[in-house]
Amino acid sequence: MDILKVDQVSKIYGEGVQYRALNDISFTMEKGEFVGVMGPSGSGKTTLLNLVATIDQPSSGDIYINGQVPHRLKKNKLAQFRRRELGFVFQDFNLLHTLTVEENIVLPLVLEGERVSVMEQKARRLAERLGIEHILGKRTYEISGGQAQRAAIARAIIHSPSLLLADEPTGNLDSKSAKDVMLTLSEINGTEGTTTLLVTHDALAASYCHRVIFIKDGQLYNEIHRGDNRQAFFQQIIDMLSLMGGHAHDLASVRV
Ligand SMILES: Nc1ncnc2c1ncn2[C@@H]1O[C@H](COP(=O)(O)OP(=O)(O)O)[C@@H](O)[C@H]1O
Ligand SMILES: [Mg+2]
Repeated sequence: MDILKVDQVSKIYGEGVQYRALNDISFTMEKGEFVGVMGPSGSGKTTLLNLVATIDQPSSGDIYINGQVPHRLKKNKLAQFRRRELGFVFQDFNLLHTLTVEENIVLPLVLEGERVSVMEQKARRLAERLGIEHILGKRTYEISGGQAQRAAIARAIIHSPSLLLADEPTGNLDSKSAKDVMLTLSEINGTEGTTTLLVTHDALAASYCHRVIFIKDGQLYNEIHRGDNRQAFFQQIIDMLSLMGGHAHDLASVRV
């Protein structure tokens, strides 16, 4: 079954002067897939992610997540849906600074009223998997950016969401930490089967995906699949980005 189905989605901003940020976008993601979305700045990546994240609503078309159409849910049902079905990883980690790493990681379970012993056990298991078990008792200002992002990944998946959404998760990291975070995301995708949608303008980050969808001016432009060679895929991504043109900014941040 498809975990995500984006069906002829358009998004128009503004009332008087209207701006079509997305134009008739359709694609699907199967369970366990790891898909990247790339495109020049202003192409509609964040708009698309916000729609899938149920933070914003499409102007037309439908988005199905795990068989449901979240934007048709009432407000409190939608909040519950988002909490249970989705996990989020952001560029700036979004950890709560008054809490320890472990307290941050278990937040989604706290909101569901899970038992403390279950929370501790899940947090420990995930932390070991992500190599952050030794920092569980630390505060967020005592850890590195890479560790913070791994903690954020643990928090995003501790409740086994149907879909993990990552918006530029390597955007604030040095290249070594960025690579660690992408290895972590791809390992979690492989072992836990977490269906993951990644928005990035980092070609190296995108090269860890199974498939990359390119959008330009709010429309689907192309889609390429990784074979078994990540290096070759990385080069294909670079080539596609230069073919697409767009702002130098998007290519300047490419790390080799
Ligand atoms: N809330 C908004 N109101 C009006 N226009 C917006 C809004 N958000 C984004 N846009 C416009 O929609 C287009 C796509 O933006 P965005 O999705 O942020 O692109 P990207 O993330 O690919 O850089 C841009 O032209 C942007 O200026
Ligand atoms: Mg954006």
